[in-house]
Amino acid sequence: MEPQHKIIFEPMNIGEIQLDNRIALAPTYVGMGDETGMVTDQQLCYYYTRATGGLGLVIVEITGVTGRFAFIAGRGLGAASDRSIPGLQDLARVIHWGGAKAFIQLAPGHGAQAMSHHKRRPLVGPSAVPALIQQDGLPKTLQGIAKTSPERPRPLEVEEIIGLKEAMVRAAVRAKRAGFDGIEVHGAHGYLLCQFTSPYYNRRSDDYGGSPEKRWRLSLETIHGMKETLGKNFVVGYRFSAREWIPGGLDLPESIEMAKALQDAGADYLSVSQGCYGAATHLFPAGEDAMTEDAAAIRKAVSIPVMCPNFQDPDKVAEAISNGSVDLVALSRALLADPMWAIKVKEGRAAEIEKCKRCYQCVRAAIVDHVPVRCPVNPRLGFERFDAQSFPRPAIGQGG
Ligand SMILES: Cc1cc2nc3c(=O)[nH]c(=O)nc-3n(C[C@H](O)[C@H](O)[C@H](O)COP(=O)(O)O)c2cc1C
Ligand code: SF4
Repeated sequence: MEPQHKIIFEPMNIGEIQLDNRIALAPTYVGMGDETGMVTDQQLCYYYTRATGGLGLVIVEITGVTGRFAFIAGRGLGAASDRSIPGLQDLARVIHWGGAKAFIQLAPGHGAQAMSHHKRRPLVGPSAVPALIQQDGLPKTLQGIAKTSPERPRPLEVEEIIGLKEAMVRAAVRAKRAGFDGIEVHGAHGYLLCQFTSPYYNRRSDDYGGSPEKRWRLSLETIHGMKETLGKNFVVGYRFSAREWIPGGLDLPESIEMAKALQDAGADYLSVSQGCYGAATHLFPAGEDAMTEDAAAIRKAVSIPVMCPNFQDPDKVAEAISNGSVDLVALSRALLADPMWAIKVKEGRAAEIEKCKRCYQCVRAAIVDHVPVRCPVNPRLGFERFDAQSFPRPAIGQGG
């Protein structure tokens, strides 16, 4: 290993969970589920391959907790009923077999960004504010998103908001029963929870809107409810867009205050992202290292671990950790393009990393076409189930 990369492979703790190193798979919807949200063999093979690539942590993609409201139809994951537990159990198990710790990202809904949704499920949000969609500066591959015409959502009733919080807690209980080591609450990227925290989307004047504290309330109550129910040692983290990058949207100074409140509510780590569909090129930057400064500002304000995505170059990862900007990094596209990223860095073969070329095909599959994700740099992505060699038999006793 090159000496400057050593710091990436230092173990660390999130709550009581020890990670072998500072590289996580960022939650990344890959569209490999079935239409009912149950775990498929292909998903097991995809996640197993990522875990065997030498990651300290795998954070499983956005997972739904209720089918009551409109969501982005696709081939995602669900934890809305006990029927999902056996599949989730297999998922946690293969990630552990691969050598990583396993968290799962839970989301109460897509809110006003649930485009092309099932018409029988109501489109809801904190307020009747349609989703903003970026129009200018989109890469050619993503231009299809600018053609969607967002509808006006129905504001949620207070009882429905409380119901969503309870659905989040119930799904977290299922994930814990399935053997996951932690939960990530998805408060980022303009989806429902992010819309509640957003001064642009949340125009309510009841207990769930008005002041910043009331906009954050659903997020804080969700974390609090999970910690109370799951026990204080079970990891609950929170992902948010430190800046939405839309006019009147959530911005860094308020995000720093929110980060402190999330820590006080019991969050064990924070995952700092940016953007929403109104600012898709901030959510999926063309370059790298675009979120590190915000993560550093947030890390200064809290004492729990902080991570952020948007890295490819291991030198930049090592620098961000060693200069105290982040505790660990969450790689998304870098690991779609090359699941062996971490092993290559560890073995001093960083030059052999197959680099994501920012063609945006995966993003288009995920948020425009709602089809399984494929990658021209890594033709095996989506076909991991055919790679029999990637499955060494786990040692006896590693059943969970
Ligand atoms: C295909 C795709 C699907 C994604 N799905 C999720 C998701 O399920 N949850 C989430 O919080 N972020 C999701 N993201 C955002 C990534 O986690 C990450 O924040 C973003 O891609 C920037 O990091 P990167 O430069 O490492 O790709 C997704 C990104 C891509 C490319
Ligand atoms: S090369 Fe293209 S499809 Fe592959 S991860 Fe990068 S942006 Fe996505």
